[in-house]
Parts: sequence; structure tokens; C-alpha cells
Amino acid sequence: MKKLKALSACLPFLFLFSCAQQQHDNKDKGLETRIDNLLSQMTLEEKIGQMNQISSFGNIEDMSGLIKKGEIGSILNETDPQKINALQRVAMEESRLGIPMIFARDVIHGFKTIFPIPLGQAASFNPEIAEVGARVAAIECSSVGIRWTFAPMIDVARDPRWGRMAEGCGEDTYLTSVMGAAMIKGFQGDSLNNPTSVAACPKHFVGYGAAEGGRDYNSTFIPERLLRNVYLPPFEAAARAGAATYMTSFNDNDGVPSTGNKFILEDVLRKEWGFDGFVVTDWASASEMIPHGFVVDEKDAALKSVNAGVDMEMVSYTFVKYLPELIKEGKVKESTIDNAVRNILRIKFRMGLFENPFVDEEQPSVLYDTPHLEAAKRAAIESAILLKNDKGILPLNGNVKTVAIVGPLADAPHDQMGTWVFDGEKSHTQTPLHAIREMYGDKVQIIYEPGLAYSRDKNTANISKAAAAAAKADVVLAFVGEEAILSGEAHCLADLNLVGAQSELIAALAKTGKPVVTVVMAGRPLTIGKEAELSSAVLYNFHPGTMGGPAIADLLFGKEVPSGKTPVTFPKMVGQVPMYYAHNNSGRPAQKNETLINDIPLEAGQTSLGNTSFYLDAGFDPLYPFGYGLSYTTFEYSDVKIASSQLKKQDVLSISFSLENTGKYKGTEVAQLYVRDKVGSVTRPVKELKRFTRIMLQPGEKKTVTFELPVAELAFWNIDMVKTVEAGDFGLWVAGDSQSGNELVFKVTD
Ligand code: BGC
Repeated sequence: MKKLKALSACLPFLFLFSCAQQQHDNKDKGLETRIDNLLSQMTLEEKIGQMNQISSFGNIEDMSGLIKKGEIGSILNETDPQKINALQRVAMEESRLGIPMIFARDVIHGFKTIFPIPLGQAASFNPEIAEVGARVAAIECSSVGIRWTFAPMIDVARDPRWGRMAEGCGEDTYLTSVMGAAMIKGFQGDSLNNPTSVAACPKHFVGYGAAEGGRDYNSTFIPERLLRNVYLPPFEAAARAGAATYMTSFNDNDGVPSTGNKFILEDVLRKEWGFDGFVVTDWASASEMIPHGFVVDEKDAALKSVNAGVDMEMVSYTFVKYLPELIKEGKVKESTIDNAVRNILRIKFRMGLFENPFVDEEQPSVLYDTPHLEAAKRAAIESAILLKNDKGILPLNGNVKTVAIVGPLADAPHDQMGTWVFDGEKSHTQTPLHAIREMYGDKVQIIYEPGLAYSRDKNTANISKAAAAAAKADVVLAFVGEEAILSGEAHCLADLNLVGAQSELIAALAKTGKPVVTVVMAGRPLTIGKEAELSSAVLYNFHPGTMGGPAIADLLFGKEVPSGKTPVTFPKMVGQVPMYYAHNNSGRPAQKNETLINDIPLEAGQTSLGNTSFYLDAGFDPLYPFGYGLSYTTFEYSDVKIASSQLKKQDVLSISFSLENTGKYKGTEVAQLYVRDKVGSVTRPVKELKRFTRIMLQPGEKKTVTFELPVAELAFWNIDMVKTVEAGDFGLWVAGDSQSGNELVFKVTD
């Protein structure tokens, strides 16, 4: 645990800004000479082989022939250390130049010990949680020989219909930048050379989260300014954090698939950000440019991806097949291939793979180590969001003698791990039912009656049994949500209500008159307004992973206090999406006193004057805003002060405020700083998150807290497509969510 602690002590924001140029400065001459020496000995086929990644198939013999020929630079999806070593031995000892392969896997939120899904980790607003989670994942997966993970996913996502929202950090550019950079730090450790370091692969570059209609793989239409202001910054932060590789995305943006997009791969990533690692395609995204209608055939796919700046292709096999021909024809320059191979070899050298190509099969297992489980539990605790808590029903107090545990997610060890879990085993998962029995079974009597077998279950036959159990209890704990398979890649939804008969279940429980505590486990924000109204409390968990059970048990029984905040806006109904707090204003912003559908008089005359931008049937507000989350205690913000409200562009804005714990429990508040650029050369978002911090306070304790924000961080891509701070007035809020706080104003002058 010492190692974890040391790592987690890094100041969260420091590396975001101090690692700029790291990639460029890292280019040590000795390494470049080594790369050039090796390159000069390689045949064209061997070079192209380095650019080829296959998915592990069949037995070792099947792959050995290709490896011997030098036709494979990387293998994904092999997790057996003995097989990994055997395959690597072929590369090292039987291929002509002995170039090591790099073994890859989607280790997204844990390898064996599963942490909350990234959206959950983002809810902690704690980069240390993300960093430690990634470190644990790296320690575990590197122990079987995996040295490259396809993570973090840092696609800003503003449409919860999109199943992959689960894999990222939500709707906000800044939060995603901070959490993504922390994950990279955790995966890659202090040096790529360390045998427990795993090369990170920020993905999907870029814009994938803006898939039209929230339907996976769909086109995006992101104008350059929006791309630069909202979707690119997390990837730039990733470059600054030293990410070793990048993955292109499946989507075409304004008609250009990312895998063939020279502007993002060459101009932005290489030239603007100075990235010197390598770029891999997404799974078959080179050949998928054929159905996109962007290339004619596989040969054209190889041509357009390599010329756009792709270095390695994942499983399409078009490079090996067609690059030799394309070079002969002069359509691809050999220097382009040389550069791609240089990028790949640079990372392999930096990772120490030439010196340490093999995994130590003898080392004692680190999988599911106790400190790993403890870290996963802490992450699940900090990720839980308390959305409602009427009359302080939570935490459960001594008067609660009997609890009814119901719902399909109470004991769903597979589903609570969430999406992208290839390696975690449900036999290691601790469910809420198991944990409450084990940890609190001596304090309360437990009646377990699930009511529904799984989230999509429509069979209502057993709901009456759950209601009968509820009737016998003092409090009902209803575990509802989504099975893991309902979110993640290719698992999008057009309806965000609870699936199956879960709404009926909650309604039946509420009818008993017993207080219902609804605990949700899901891969996205669901439209749970109706169920929340019927519940006394709602504790929302984005699939919390292996240790979700003990974490939730401790939260319900008050050993821990919730501190998570929504990393995405929760819509009231699906028709409101995309819905996000950092929207631009219309010329007729909602006033929040609009006439809603049921208040319109019959045969009212057509009118628009005085009306604003809102929905007749949903108004303007979300169910829960971004950054929102309650605690068992209460916090009061006061004395928000700006040190100087007249600033120059090179100044640092200093904002101090007092935060007091005015309740009865020790608790942690996530204080957030939002800024609005009031008038710009282009319209600007109504609020943008610029800083956040977690503050722990004892009951009655009061602290003065300061946020420092360089004015330079108010820069945006303006009308001339130049990133700059524009002089003028700014609004500022310090609050516990994106809708609260009183506005202060400051001025920036040239
Ligand atoms: C996904 C990527 C993933 C890759 C490899 C693709 O389908 O889009 O996120 O890393 O598969 O498994």
C-alpha cells in the first residue's frame, strides 16, 4: 500500500500543467540513435510488420510463423503469462532482429480488481482515486505481461443514450482532462521503463462522444471551434501527461473518419502538441472506412490511414497486405513508414521491452491483493452520489431493526462490475446483499426478496413478495438499475427509464408506506424522476465494481458519508438530451417561470413574444444538475472573495471562500469554481468548471479555501480560431454544484 500512497500523494493538478513539452524534451539522442540503427537494419516487410497488431488467436504455433517473419508488432487480448512469454520468445529469439512485441488489452477500470466504471470514478471529483485505480490496474495486468492498455477513454459525452458514456468521465472538458491525466499517470507510473508500467492509450481521438443521436459509431458534426474548445483539451492534457500512444476513433467528423484525418493526427497531435509516441487505429477502423464510403477498398484504407498519420493498425491487416505495393507505386513514401516505425520503436525502447521482454512467471500473484481491494472500496465510496435524503432517512440509525433488501441489483456480482470487464471474476465481487449480511447482519434483521431476477425482468409475479417483505421491515433498500451489458460499446438506448418492471417494483414498495431507499447501479444517468419521488432517499452508483457491496453498506449504515457529485447532467426525460450545463445561451434564455403544457389556455393564440428556450413538457431544468450531490451533513459557503477583481492576462486570479460543516457528520464537500466569459468574439458557455477540490470537515469546522486560476486558463478558440483570453467582464461562482452560488464579477484587461 505504501507504493500506492506515495503515488497518490502527487498534487493532482501539477502534472496537468508542468508536463508540457515532456514529449519533446524526452527525445534523448542516445535513444534516437538506437532507433535509427535498428531501423537501418530492417527490411520494408519488417518495418510494416511493426505497424501490424493482431488479436490473439488459436495456439502459439499458429501465430509463431507470422512472428518469426517479423510480421507482428503487437498482440492484443492474450492474458496467459506463459503464452505471452512463449510468443515473445519467438519474437526475441526466432525473428531476424529480435524486436519485442507489446501485449495489449482493454484494462479500462481494473484488470482483476474492478474499480467503479470511469464515469463513477469521475463522480469522486478526486484525481487521486483515478490515479490509484489505474496504478492498481497496471500492477495487476503487467503481472501477466500486459504492458499496454487501451485507456483512458476521455471522450467528452453529453448524451446518456450513448452506451459508452460509462467508459469516460462525463460531460465536462475540464473534469475529463484532470481525471484522464491522472489515469495516465497511474497507468504509466513514474517511468515507462518500470516493469509495472503500462503504456496508456487515450481514446478515441476524437469526437466519438458526440455521436449523433447517442447511437454508437454514428457520425459527428463538430465544428473546429467546438472541437478545440470542448473535445480536444482532454487529449491535449493527455499529451502533456506523457501518454505513450493514442487511438483513433470510429466516427467520421464532418465527413472525415478519424483514422484518415490528417488534420487531427498530423497537424494537431504531432505538430501542435509535439506528440512523439505512436497512434493505433481502433479495431478495424482502417478497413471500416470502406463502409463509411471514404475509401474504395482495403488498399485505399491503408493508403489513407498511413498518409493521415496512423502508425499501427489494429486487426485490419491492410498495411501488411498493401503497403509494399503502395510504396512501389510512390503513393506512400518510405520515409512515412520509417517515421511510423520510429514512433513505435521509441515506445518499445522507453518501456524497456528490449531489455525486459518477458514477464516473471514466478512472482507471487498480485491479483486481488488486499490493498487493491481496499483502494477499490475507497473508490466506490467516493464515487457514490446521494441524490435525495428526505428527513435524514440515511444513514440508517439504531431505530432500524429490520431491513428489506429487494431489487435485481442487490446481489448481481457480474452486473455491478459494469462494462468493459474482460478479466474481473464475479466470484470475487462483493455484492450489497453479501456485504450487509456480513458487516451489519448483527445490527439489523435482513429479509431478502429480490422481486425481479434481473434488471430487464418484466415478470411481475414476485413483486408482491418483495412488497410483503417491505411491509415487515422498518426500511426498504431497493437495488435497481442496469445490467452491465446495457451500457458500453454498441449498447445505446433510446429510452432512459428503468428497464423491465423496476418502476412497478418501486411503486409497489412505496405503496407499503415504508421508507424506500433506492440504490441505483447503472452505466449512465437514468431518468428516475418518478422513482426518486416515491423514494425517501436515492444513492446513485455508476457500476461500482468488485467492492461496490461493502462500500454501499458502509454508506447506508453511516460508517462512510457520501461525497460524490454528478459528472453528467441527469435529464428529466430523454427528449431533453443532449443536455449539459456548459451550454451557450440563446437570445431568449429560459426564465424558469415559463408556462408549461398544462397551463396553456385552450385555443390560446399563436405567440412567441416573451417566450424562451425551453420544453413545454419538461421546462428547462434537469432532474439533477452537473456537479450535484448531497451529504449526510450540510455545508455552508460564505465570504467568497476575489483578491483583485481587475486583472491582466498574465495575472493569477485568487479566489478565497469559507466552507463550514453545519451538520452533524464529518463529511467531504467537492467545492467547485465556475467562470463565465460574459461577452466574446463568439458566444461563450453560461458556465465552465475551472477548478474543484475536496474538503473534509468535522462537524462545526470551518475552513478558508483558496482557488488559484491563471487568467491564461480563460483562453478559448475565438472568432479568428486563435486561442486567446479576450479582455472583458467575467462572472464567477463558487458552489457545491453547477446551479448554485452567487455571482461575483471580475474584469480582465489587455
Ligand atoms: C473499441 C476500443 C477498444 C478496441 C479493442 C474497439 O471496439 O472501440 O475502445 O479499445 O475495440 O478492444
